[in-house]
Amino acid sequence: MSNAQSVRISVADLAAKKRAGERFAMLTCYEQITAEIFDSANIPVLLVGDSAGNNFLGFENTIPVTVDELIPMARAVVNSSSKAMVVADLPFGSYESSPEQALITSIRFFKEAKVGAVKLEGGVKVVPQIQKLVASGIPVMGHLGLTPQSVHTLGGFKVQGRGDDAQVIINDAKALVAAGVFAIVLEAVPAQLAKQITSAISVPTIGIGAGVDCDGQVLVWTDLMGLTAKIPKLAKAYRNMRKEMSDAVSEFAQDVAAGRFPTAEQSFN
Ligand code: KIV
Repeated sequence: MSNAQSVRISVADLAAKKRAGERFAMLTCYEQITAEIFDSANIPVLLVGDSAGNNFLGFENTIPVTVDELIPMARAVVNSSSKAMVVADLPFGSYESSPEQALITSIRFFKEAKVGAVKLEGGVKVVPQIQKLVASGIPVMGHLGLTPQSVHTLGGFKVQGRGDDAQVIINDAKALVAAGVFAIVLEAVPAQLAKQITSAISVPTIGIGAGVDCDGQVLVWTDLMGLTAKIPKLAKAYRNMRKEMSDAVSEFAQDVAAGRFPTAEQSFN
């Protein structure tokens, strides 16, 4: 029996993509079937995002999401993919207190779900956490701009980095790179600012609502498929799966009521 490991996309592969000017996609992913589909479609990075909170767990936003809720999702995504790098979000409350707390949480994701990296939100204030994780062998993805875990201090889901605030995000991006992140998500920042950061830093930027000049782009998969009830401005629905699914389940219910399902094809002698 072979012990061969599948070879997943690595931090070095993403760095090479930036050097080559090759844009890449990242998608959120929370369970088995979508992990199989996205991995087969060669999506290089799957993010087990805390957006599971408002797309899977029925919360209003990402804040209530816990480590115990995300770990089984991360494990399912890892177990159902073989090529993609799987990145787990560190949920709100699981890393802010100290670098040690961030390390303990990240080790749980690495041991219990076998993810390849973690993501955390914030700039200069999380530099000690990033340094601790990177020194411990844990690849870290940063997240700047609109950081949904701070929605209450940001005063809502608003574009960040306009006017004088731009310099704060530039400084944060440089501090994150110096601390050792391998990529940075830029969410809801002006396209021109994202372009400036992308050319100023050595690691890939991954945009969502950050214009076309980032090195990569990420979407929440339920937005991409048009499943979300209200698609945010920063996302694009490539299909209308909400309607497709609604039509399909209504058709099923009508067939049941009319005795059209099951037919002989779904029945046994
Ligand atoms: O949790 C998430 O889905 C995210 C992406 C929007 C980057 O953080």
